[in-house]
Amino acid sequence: ASLKSYNTFGIDVKAKNLISVDSVDELISVLKKNDTEDLFILGGGSNMLLTQNIDTTVIHIDIKGVEVVRETEEFVFVKSYAGENWHEFVLYTLENNWGGLENLSLIPGNVGTSPIQNIGAYGVELKDHFVSCDALDIQTLEVVNFTAKECEFDYRNSIFKNKVKGKYIITNVVFKLTKANHKLLTSYGAINEALAEMGVNNVGIRDISNAVIKIRQQKLPDPKELGNSGSFFKNPVISNKEFEVLKEQFPEIPSYNVGEDSIKIPGGWLIDKAGLKGYREGNTGVHKNQALVLVNYGEATGEEILKLSRKVQAEILTKFNIYLEPEVNII
Ligand code: EPU
Repeated sequence: ASLKSYNTFGIDVKAKNLISVDSVDELISVLKKNDTEDLFILGGGSNMLLTQNIDTTVIHIDIKGVEVVRETEEFVFVKSYAGENWHEFVLYTLENNWGGLENLSLIPGNVGTSPIQNIGAYGVELKDHFVSCDALDIQTLEVVNFTAKECEFDYRNSIFKNKVKGKYIITNVVFKLTKANHKLLTSYGAINEALAEMGVNNVGIRDISNAVIKIRQQKLPDPKELGNSGSFFKNPVISNKEFEVLKEQFPEIPSYNVGEDSIKIPGGWLIDKAGLKGYREGNTGVHKNQALVLVNYGEATGEEILKLSRKVQAEILTKFNIYLEPEVNII
């Protein structure tokens, strides 16, 4: 089976066998029938670069459903099953006037994979509204509940990318959202600009969502039109000392403080400054509106995208002495 329509990069590799499961019971029965050492779990396919055929069984997690598990006067606890599309879930929460996820509008992928890399955008991260998730232990077939603390969330990181990598399949996620007195986060400059352009006065959660959608549509390519995986690299974190050296050479370098002795630099700025924004090589390229995003112009292979990513890494290392770590999982 071709995985082309199952990954947002649109890479045409084949799986030995592709099984979609739409319930936890079905997932358990598939796991019982297959060698669990030899499986590939697929969610929304929005954070991976497939560089070769998958010669094992691929399980596509397609478990759907959204339900309210608990409510207070101020808060609602909403459970979404893993196979729900992230953005559709966000829109559903906004239709119900539940606040919290509006800044995370239009992020590709599914709910079930959102905790793995602690998705984040425009000043909000998944962890800010995450309560817990259920995950199926692939070996014992037991369902284990992970609290936010147990998930060890960090910038584009969690326990699911580290200590327990490949050990669990997330089956649902519970979020705590506000029913009233929504806390609006408009600190990210571009949001205010977009709201002003839209002529919105009395800003609410849906306006923020619309502003975020507008910004993302301007900068980030729609995977349906141009294959991509969002930011290909993480924004690098360097020490204050390293930053001082860079700042002398590039006084206009943007930066964010992230700790006592560390500074985050926008990788997109580095790639842009290195002259690679809009760079094209065959079927692959650096996106013309956002240099942190690599794109597939049509028939690119995963190998070709990987080759381009290595070229970008090499140039950034030479020019700035900074290593860009891929954000995307390379398979
Ligand atoms: N910049 C450039 N040139 C570029 C791209 C960016 O100079 O080609 C500069 C911008 O001018 C700005 C800074 O870099 O000063 C930051 O750019 P942007 O606001 O576009 O955000 P980012 O740091 O590149 C991160 C996330 C995005 C998220 C945005 C908004 C990572 C790896 N990426 O990108 O997440 O949407 O912030 O919060 O942290 C994703 O993970 O796939 C993703 C799209």
